[in-house]
Amino acid sequence: MNKKRKLIIAGNWKMNKTVAEGLALVSDLKIDLANVKEVDIVVCPPFTALESVSKAVLDSNLRLGAQNMSEHNFGAFTGEICAGMLKEFSVRYVILGHSERRQYQKESDALISKKALAVHGASLKPIVCVGELLAEREAGQTEKVLEKQVRGSLVGLNKDQMVETIIAYEPVWAIGTGKTATTQQAQDAHAFIRGLLGKLFGEAVAKKVRVQYGGSVKPSNARELMSQPDVDGALVGGASLEARSFADIVKNSI
Ligand code: PGA
Repeated sequence: MNKKRKLIIAGNWKMNKTVAEGLALVSDLKIDLANVKEVDIVVCPPFTALESVSKAVLDSNLRLGAQNMSEHNFGAFTGEICAGMLKEFSVRYVILGHSERRQYQKESDALISKKALAVHGASLKPIVCVGELLAEREAGQTEKVLEKQVRGSLVGLNKDQMVETIIAYEPVWAIGTGKTATTQQAQDAHAFIRGLLGKLFGEAVAKKVRVQYGGSVKPSNARELMSQPDVDGALVGGASLEARSFADIVKNSI
């Protein structure tokens, strides 16, 4: 496949994997994916496994991501984790505004944009998640919702920061449900997002930004999704918990 933007495929382990389980998974992935150079491969363990996994991936082509981060750099914020703490473990990417956090922690676009600025302030790369609910899609509101989330979650970013930001389009109705968006639905949403980035940050920036698809990505649908012109990778939940399926997603995407 010949795309100008390098694919980025990230495994979001969510609240799964003890340290021992995480180490077993990455040890298999390191072997399975050792020869892959065409894709940026990222694993996003829970905070408790970051230290061990960071040591395990040090000599490999796997990169480390976190699943969330505070918008503050230090201080009295019980239970939060800041950028400096993630950097100790060579974290490079931080998932922000996942739909589960938007839903359960009530994260707003305004908060996500503050977090994105904090991520860039530490020279890390945010993976900013956006996506519509089923009811919103059925009501014909998909583009309206995406526009609000994209504009609101990226407030204050400059062009250089935007180029280093990854967007994950994840239709909420496709997450963990086994229902994948059709390749056309995915491509349409991605093209819409890129068009909007063009308006907000300029065409040259929009052309460089990688937009991942997320929502029931599997080895069987990865190739077709990745073949779409505006789909530049995947954010994988369930299928990233097993080495074989995550490795096959990566290999099938090349
Ligand atoms: P899923 O999750 O692959 O299990 O649908 C995707 C995500 O939430 O990022």
